[in-house]
Amino acid sequence: MKLALALVFISAVAAASHGHGHEHRGRCENYTTSTRSNGSNESTGWRQKPHGRASFTAYNGCQYPSCGIRMKSGYTAAVNTLSFGADDGAGDACGRCFEITPTSDPYTPSYKGPFGNTIVVKVTDLCPITSGNNAWCGQTISHPRNQHNMSMHFDLCNDSGSSSAFFPGRRGAMLGTYQEVDCQAWSGASGDTLWNGACLARETAALWPSHACGNRGTPPN
Ligand SMILES: *[C@@H]1O[C@H](CO)[C@@H](O)[C@H](O)[C@H]1NC(C)=O
Ligand SMILES: *[C@@H]1O[C@H](CO)[C@@H](O)[C@H](O)[C@H]1NC(C)=O
Ligand SMILES: *[C@@H]1O[C@H](CO)[C@@H](O)[C@H](O)[C@H]1NC(C)=O
Ligand SMILES: *[C@@H]1O[C@H](CO)[C@@H](O)[C@H](O)[C@H]1NC(C)=O
Ligand SMILES: *[C@@H]1O[C@H](CO)[C@@H](O)[C@H](O)[C@H]1NC(C)=O
Repeated sequence: MKLALALVFISAVAAASHGHGHEHRGRCENYTTSTRSNGSNESTGWRQKPHGRASFTAYNGCQYPSCGIRMKSGYTAAVNTLSFGADDGAGDACGRCFEITPTSDPYTPSYKGPFGNTIVVKVTDLCPITSGNNAWCGQTISHPRNQHNMSMHFDLCNDSGSSSAFFPGRRGAMLGTYQEVDCQAWSGASGDTLWNGACLARETAALWPSHACGNRGTPPN
């Protein structure tokens, strides 16, 4: 069984004016421990650091997130493939919680703020590598930074309220910082499990580079 879904970037002013729409995919697939090789460790090719700089955008529609578990409540986000740890189904980023802080506007570098709020999001979804996404989520082993020079990207799920809590005013894209935190700092609750193999294991794992759900497949070249 496979589930396909189309999620579209938020149409907030700054993002929309630059015309990047994109599609998220979630897949209904089983996986076992034996296929969860190569966890959170850059020597394996995935780029999974517990803190650093990142870019931020937003999307609408996160009913079928790639981690396979729908949230009842709480701020959620998708991350780029090279950080997510899979291009199909759950990756090692699933269920991890990050404190994110906006510090500049990529479209208006002269903008001096206000920049918006620091919030804690849980990763539940994949921002895949597609032509419409590459400016933000196109990181690969050979090009580990996106067009905004960031190795990590968070695409905030507007449905969860995270984008309106995070972005200042009507801006829809920001650059800033992230820090992985214990999920006790996240407010929210899990809901339905959508398929066998769904995983949000962060609750029982330590911060990166420890493994939680585990990575799957081969990181993009
Ligand atoms: C974000 O979600 C809110 C409802 O939660 C909705 O009113 C708003 O239109 C959405 N934003 C965009 C850009 O679609
Ligand atoms: C997935 O798991 C279910 C239940 O364990 C099983 O019935 C199904 O055949 C599996 N599908 C695949 C593709 O392995
Ligand atoms: C990453 O993996 C390599 C090889 O397995 C290991 O030597 C190294 O200690 C690991 N680094 C971290 C931070 O886990
Ligand atoms: C893990 O990744 C390394 C380096 O990318 C690769 O050589 C190795 O075969 C992988 N291991 C498995 C079990 O896939
Ligand atoms: C990209 O970021 C890295 C690390 O922060 C920095 O060393 C480099 O100068 C930046 N490159 C550009 C073109 O801004």
